[in-house]
This record gives sequence, C-alpha cells and structure tokens, in this order.
Amino acid sequence: MAGGLSCPSGRVQRVTPPGQKQDEPVKQDGLVIFLTGSELGALRPCGCSGGQLGGIEKRSAVFNSVPASQRLVVETGSLVPSDREQDLIKFRILFEAFGRLNYDVVHLTGRDVEIARRLGLLADPKPPFRVLHAVEKGQSTVFTKRVTIGGRDVTVNIVSFDSPAAVLQPPSFILQPPETPSINILILDYADPKPLLEGYPEELLIRSWVSYGAECVICPSSSDEPQVLSTPRRGPLVCTVGRFGRHICRLGVTFGSREEGPQTEDRQKAGSSDFKLQTSNFKLHFESIPVGAKLPDDPALGQLYRQYQQLVSQSGLLESYPRVPLPAGLAFTGSLSCKPCHEPAYEKWNASGHARALDALKKAGSDRDPECVICHVIGMEYEGGFVTEAKTPQLAGVGCENCHGPGSAHILSAGQTATTPPKTACVKCHTPEQSSGFAGHQEEYMKKIAHGKERAATGKVKE
Ligand code: HEC
Ligand code: HEC
Ligand code: HEC
Ligand code: HEC
Repeated sequence: MAGGLSCPSGRVQRVTPPGQKQDEPVKQDGLVIFLTGSELGALRPCGCSGGQLGGIEKRSAVFNSVPASQRLVVETGSLVPSDREQDLIKFRILFEAFGRLNYDVVHLTGRDVEIARRLGLLADPKPPFRVLHAVEKGQSTVFTKRVTIGGRDVTVNIVSFDSPAAVLQPPSFILQPPETPSINILILDYADPKPLLEGYPEELLIRSWVSYGAECVICPSSSDEPQVLSTPRRGPLVCTVGRFGRHICRLGVTFGSREEGPQTEDRQKAGSSDFKLQTSNFKLHFESIPVGAKLPDDPALGQLYRQYQQLVSQSGLLESYPRVPLPAGLAFTGSLSCKPCHEPAYEKWNASGHARALDALKKAGSDRDPECVICHVIGMEYEGGFVTEAKTPQLAGVGCENCHGPGSAHILSAGQTATTPPKTACVKCHTPEQSSGFAGHQEEYMKKIAHGKERAATGKVKE
C-alpha cells in the first residue's frame, strides 16, 4: 500500500510521550477513552535495570486521573503471544486485571477468543466487562454505550473487523446512523494485516472508514510505542496502541463546531507531543502516556501479580522446562569446583552480583519463574543444568560456567582441555531490555568483573 496510511507500517508519526500528568486535576468536560492492548504477556517489567515502562499495577493511576463517569476504558486485544502454559496463566491474570481495573470493554483477537474459551472465561460467571470480538469473517459484535459530552448525548460504538473485506462491506447491523451523534471506533483484528491490506487501495479504505463516520481506527501494533498513522487532513485518526503495556493511549473527545471546515482538519503542530484532529462532530486529542516507574502501584493489582508468581511456581514450569543435551561428555560442575585451582578468580566472582543473581529473583518473588531464572543461574536450558535451588544448589546464580562453558572436561584434564572463550557471553544476558546500561559500556562492565590475570598457583596454573 502506498502513501501514509499503510497499516501497520507506513509513514509513521512518532508520538513523543508527554510528561506524566497524572496528578493534574481534570479540567475538561469531554470524554476520555483510554486504549490499551498488545500486552503480549507483559504483566510487569522485569526490573533488571532502571527506566523500564509498563506494569498492570500502574494502570489505575492513569485511569483514575479522569472521573469514572467521564472515561471509557478499552482493551484492544493480543493479550499473550502464544498458548504455552505460562501464557495461559498470564491470560487468566490479565483477564482478572481488566475486571479489577474496571475496563468497560475488552476486545479479543482470534487467538485471544480461542484461549478465553479454552479457559472457560467467557462462560459463567460472565466477566464484569463487555467482551468484543470479530466472530467470523464479516461478522462482528458491536459495543455501544451512551455517554454525555458537554451536556449532549453521544453514542460510542466500537466494532472489530477481521478482514478488509469486512471493513469494506460490513454487515448491515454495524454502525447504522443513530439518532444521536456517534463516535465510531474500528478495531482491525488481522493476524497480519499487511498482505490483506495490500490488496486494497488506501483511497478505498479511507472512503469506507469515512462513510461510517469512523473517528478512530486502531491497527495492530508493530512497535512498542503507540503510533499515529493518519495522513493530515484525511480520514479518521488511525493509530496503534504500542506493545507490552508500556504506554496507555488517551483519546480525549470533545464537541467541535461543524463550521470549522472540511471533514477533517489536522490540528497538529510541528514538534508537539500529541495529535489533534477535528472530525465532522468531534475534536480528538490523542496522547500516549508512558507507564513509568514513578506511577504509584495499585495494591490490588500488586496482589494479583503475586498470585501470578504463585501460579507459576505451583505449575512446576521450572522443572518441566524443555532442556537440550550438552555436547557429548560435558557437564556443569558449579563454581565451587573451580576454586581449588583458581582461588583469586573465585573470590573475585564470589564477591560480585553474579554470584547472588538468584537472590535478586527471590527478593522479587520470581525465583521459580523460568522466564527470569534462565538468565540468573547456570545452564537452565540444558540437561544437567540448573533445575531448582533444592536439586542443583551448586548452579544457582550466574557462575563461572555461564561464561566459560561447562567445566567437566577442563577439570578432569586438570586444565589441559580449554574452556569456552567467554568474550561474547555477556550479551546473551546483558540485552538492551535487561541491561540498558551495557551497550557502549562493555569495558566498564568487564572491569567490574575482571579476574583473568590473577590465577592462583596450584603448581600447574601458569601466569
Ligand atoms: C535476558 C536475561 C535476563 C532475563 C530473562 C531476566 N534477567 Fe534480570 N537481570 C539480567 C541482567 C543482565 C541483570 C543485570 C543488569 C545490569 O546491571 O545492567 C539483571 C538484573 C536483575 C535485577 C537487579 C539485581 C540487582 O541486584 O540489582 C533484578 C531484580 C532482576 N534482574 C529480576 C528479574 C526478573 C524478575 C526477571 C523475570 C521477569 C528477570 N530478571 C529476567 C538478565 C536477565
Ligand atoms: C560473567 C562472565 C564470567 C564469569 C562469571 C567468570 N568469568 Fe572468568 N573470565 C571471563 C572473561 C571475559 C575473561 C577474560 C578472557 C580474556 O581476556 O580473553 C575471564 C578470564 C578468566 C581466566 C583467565 C583466562 C586467561 O587466559 O587469562 C580464568 C582462569 C577464569 N576466568 C576463571 C574463572 C572462574 C574460576 C570463574 C568462577 C569462579 C570465572 N572465571 C567466572 C568471564 C567470566
Ligand atoms: C584441577 C585444577 C583446575 C580446576 C579445578 C579448574 N581449572 Fe581452570 N585451569 C587449570 C590450569 C592448570 C589452567 C592453565 C592451563 C594452561 O594455561 O595451559 C587453567 C586454565 C583455565 C582458564 C584459561 C585457559 C582456558 O582454558 O581458557 C580458564 C578460563 C579456566 N581455567 C576456567 C576454569 C573454570 C571455569 C573452572 C571450573 C569449572 C576451572 N577452570 C577449574 C586448572 C584447573
Ligand atoms: C547468564 C547471564 C549473564 C551473563 C552471561 C553475564 N551476566 Fe552480568 N549479570 C547478570 C545478572 C543476572 C546480573 C545481576 C546480578 C545481581 O546483581 O543480582 C548481572 C550483573 C552484572 C554486573 C553488575 C554486578 C555487580 O557485581 O555489580 C556486571 C558488571 C556484569 N554483570 C558484567 C558482565 C559481563 C562483563 C559479562 C560478560 C563477560 C556478563 N556480565 C555476563 C547476568 C549475566
């Protein structure tokens, strides 16, 4: 698709997050629609390094910045990335979280619906929010709610489409012109919209969106930050909500006067942190709010996260993690087994954070979560590697063998069999997400753990 409205790629307008405004009083008489989605299993940032965004327990603070009567909270779907067991647990927890956070409507993608059915979440008791999904090609459910904006009755319609064909020729019950002015929000629910959308010229899509009076079209997210994809002066606000719950989108809706010009008028100023749009009836103000660490935690949601950690622990995911064999004859021996011949290196390591990396997880309550443990112990993904602290205490924490490879052959040969070169080991764990300070500062990190030149003499160890 050419032009500015490709979905999800295209000429992307970055929405620079504004400063956090949660504490400011609300001074508007419009409606605020909060949009979240594409959590992809991210319930809370890992906490490995500072500055991470996200966390379900921080959403309340953002939602509650607007009185309940003036807001609508909408989840757009893609709760988890797969139907693996841990993702099913996350799905349950997110579903529960949406209830506790007083979501009005939760849109489920095709995969979400399958999982929700499998987990029995759509049957009795019914969820405390409205569930919306594209049922089958061309068939959708509609969420409709009457709200008051500036003293006038307005209908909000939210509908999901699972194919461009459905967008172009929707079933007749969808988005019929109501008696009251209406805000129509379309959620595009395609697994991969690009090949489908490529068959449809942008013009045609815009025209069909405009013909429903669509104010806002939400595309699947392909980047972590929310994006506005709209071309100025044309069609509705087309946006994505970003991924991993790092931002919450805030769509402010107020009445705009019809005299103010054509179908759409782009009010966006160059370099501004937000996006303003005038449609036939309304003024829209789209902002992306970063879910920063400074936002207060909601205790009820924090409790729910602890419940998640317990479920993960009880499910034995750590024990049942799929493990691959080590190359023939090799085995992990644990850091203590290196001490007799490399005492200075051992002492240096033992005083480092690496040696206590599993304790950091215990403090966080995540020491039985394989998604965390994998980088905080020796060899969890290998047979003979870390299983649990009870079964393999010698492999707890980041040890010599995380960097030098399994030590058995080296020890049996009293050092004659070389270990694995360690230089490239760091980035397996010190990724941009888990260790934002690492890239570009590798030397400083290396200095902090340096131990190479201080080998102990046991007769055989040369200097
Ligand atoms: C890809 C590997 C990786 C994964 C997965 C990972 N961590 Fe980490 N973690 C690290 C690294 C590397 C550091 C050190 C970061 C730094 O100092 O730059 C760290 C540091 C930490 C720290 C800070 C330790 C301290 O004493 O300051 C905590 C807490 C932590 N991780 C918790 C978690 C939790 C909880 C999870 C799972 C949700 C997790 N980690 C998953 C690699 C990982
Ligand atoms: C975080 C990764 C890491 C851990 C953990 C680690 N090392 Fe190293 N080690 C290195 C790196 C990197 C070097 C430097 C290699 C180089 O300069 O080529 C090194 C060097 C060495 C050397 C000297 C190699 C040489 O040729 O001079 C020895 C011996 C050694 N480590 C032993 C140990 C022992 C024993 C432990 C555990 C008690 C350990 N290391 C833990 C990364 C690690
Ligand atoms: C029985 C004594 C002994 C034990 C135990 C031992 N080493 Fe060594 N190691 C040596 C000797 C001897 C050398 C020097 C070999 C040489 O330079 O030819 C050596 C060299 C090394 C080197 C640098 C050369 C190379 O092989 O890359 C590293 C790294 C190393 N050892 C890591 C370890 C680790 C990790 C452990 C524990 C898993 C360990 N060693 C256990 C005796 C030992
Ligand atoms: C198996 C995963 C893993 C690998 C490989 C790894 N690290 Fe780490 N690193 C961690 C974790 C986890 C922490 C946080 C430990 C803590 O403080 O609880 C950490 C912390 C650190 C710290 C801060 C710890 C302190 O003592 O202050 C430094 C520095 C560091 N790593 C350097 C390195 C370097 C350099 C390499 C490569 C030679 C490396 N790491 C390889 C997982 C890893």
